[in-house]
Amino acid sequence: MEAQIESLQAEALAAINAAETSAALDAARVKYMGRAGAIPLLSEGMRTVAKEDKARVGKALNALRTDVTAALEAREYALAHAADAAALSQIDVTLPGIAPLRGSIHPLTQLLDKAVRIFRRMGFAIAEGPDIETEWHCFDALNTPPHHPARNEQDTFYMPDGRLLRTHTSTVQIRTMENQPPPVRIIAPGAAYRRDEVDATHLAQFTQMEGLYVAEKVSVADLKGTIEFFFRELFGEGTAIRFRPHFFPFTEPSFEIDIQTASLGGKWMELAGCGMVDPAVFEQICSRRLDRAYDPDKVSGFAFGFGLDRLAMNLTGIPDIRMLVENDLRFLKQF
Ligand code: PHE
Repeated sequence: MEAQIESLQAEALAAINAAETSAALDAARVKYMGRAGAIPLLSEGMRTVAKEDKARVGKALNALRTDVTAALEAREYALAHAADAAALSQIDVTLPGIAPLRGSIHPLTQLLDKAVRIFRRMGFAIAEGPDIETEWHCFDALNTPPHHPARNEQDTFYMPDGRLLRTHTSTVQIRTMENQPPPVRIIAPGAAYRRDEVDATHLAQFTQMEGLYVAEKVSVADLKGTIEFFFRELFGEGTAIRFRPHFFPFTEPSFEIDIQTASLGGKWMELAGCGMVDPAVFEQICSRRLDRAYDPDKVSGFAFGFGLDRLAMNLTGIPDIRMLVENDLRFLKQF
């Protein structure tokens, strides 16, 4: 029996190593290891082996099975490897490859991401509101009377049902205060729409970022500090910032913010509007909420808003604002 085991082992290993295809290897597997194969058949002979020899012969049989199984696996691996190598031999790996097209982030989105990161560090959360708004949220709540020019049909896109495309993101201030009590510290980036003639410096749809901070004892100093920190973070240490008195119906006092940076070559650029939330706005909110959470004698706040498109344009030296929305790859690839 042991002699049989030995010769079967030699025969099986030779057959396995001679297999040149996986079909030939499968045939060898069936021939030696299959249910009616040579090795199981030989194992049946164990019944006739003398008791004192059983352990030794059993061990030899086990070794045979292990060796043949290992040889089958090794051969299978070698055949697969050879097949891969044959397939690859047709390919010239020294040829230049085809580089995948890599996208990049739109310059406006880059600026927006940067701005959002800075405000988040100061504890501002992002707030959202709808682009299609009620007149109340866009104007009345913001202390903008019916005869105000911003409400004019020439300036605003009205829907047949009387709603409109928001002319600024200040609507999100109103929606936030309606829905949560102070303290509030939010920024609201988003689209705004005006019936402007589209030209090199105007779009009918543009991107604004609104900010609102309401709590007890918020002052103009807080407003200035926040705005200055923001623009210095955005444009670098050498940035000069000035506040000019201005008028907005929803803030009092109101300011326009100009900045001067190296990239502007010493020119002042008008950048944003801001101011202390007008008590009339807080009163509108109180009447909507049916509570006194925003009692102007208890809380105060500041708001600011600026257009991101023109900012991106001035900072990167884009000559025409329409380039930001034309999706011309030759333009976009530069960022
Ligand atoms: N909503 C104003 C605009 O669109 C900007 C602004 C926001 C001014 C908040 C003051 C406070 O021009």
